[in-house]
Amino acid sequence: MTAAPAPETVAAFESAKGFMPRHEGLALYAAARDAAALGLPLLEVGTYCGRSTLLLADAARAAGITAVTVDHHRGSEEQQEGWEYHDPAVVDPETGRMDTLPAFRRTLYHAGLEDHVIAVVGRSPQVARVWAAPLGLVFIDGGHTDEHASGDYEGWGPKLAEGGLLVIHDVFPDPADGGRAPYRIYRRALASGAFDEVSATGSLRVLRRTGPGI
Ligand SMILES: C[S@@+](CC[C@H](N)C(=O)[O-])C[C@H]1O[C@@H](n2cnc3c(N)ncnc32)[C@H](O)[C@@H]1O
Repeated sequence: MTAAPAPETVAAFESAKGFMPRHEGLALYAAARDAAALGLPLLEVGTYCGRSTLLLADAARAAGITAVTVDHHRGSEEQQEGWEYHDPAVVDPETGRMDTLPAFRRTLYHAGLEDHVIAVVGRSPQVARVWAAPLGLVFIDGGHTDEHASGDYEGWGPKLAEGGLLVIHDVFPDPADGGRAPYRIYRRALASGAFDEVSATGSLRVLRRTGPGI
């Protein structure tokens, strides 16, 4: 039987702000449980309000390991005022800038998962530069421009242990479905020869690191 997240986690996921549909969330959870067998941290780029983090946290709790989630909490390009994914409820009235950190903290608190997550507030490439520990899973769901997606792949890919899983969200082979920067890093990972594809669910791709040469 495939392991499933706790029902309370699924309920929290459904009610959290965010962009991931349930079937992709369950595929992310399955990947996290698989990768957790390595006993290494699970890392997410792109926390937003914690919707996907909940699933990594639940998998980390089950395995007795830790999930790490990285975000500057100022939102991606498409989440800024005037753009398609803007939510005025996550604007700090004092600074006028987006700040998703308070919503993220409430999400984890109410789900009882705070103890299983380390939240890092910062820019992904800058955090990657000072991060030394090997990782069991890298989930890339940060900025969706080529600059950001490539930076995430180049910054975090080499930290993934052999046998670990690289998970990429919003992979759209057809440009009619969305921006293609995540698709390009997915193709790049496969072309490197360092990864085998494990699964595809909606726009979520799971690859296993099988060798060096990222
Ligand atoms: C698509 S949202 C993440 C959604 C989240 N994984 C979920 O399922 O609800 C992308 C997030 O990446 C963050 N982000 C974008 N570029 C970043 C960067 N260079 N460093 C850190 N965070 C970044 C944004 O602030 C935003 O919260």
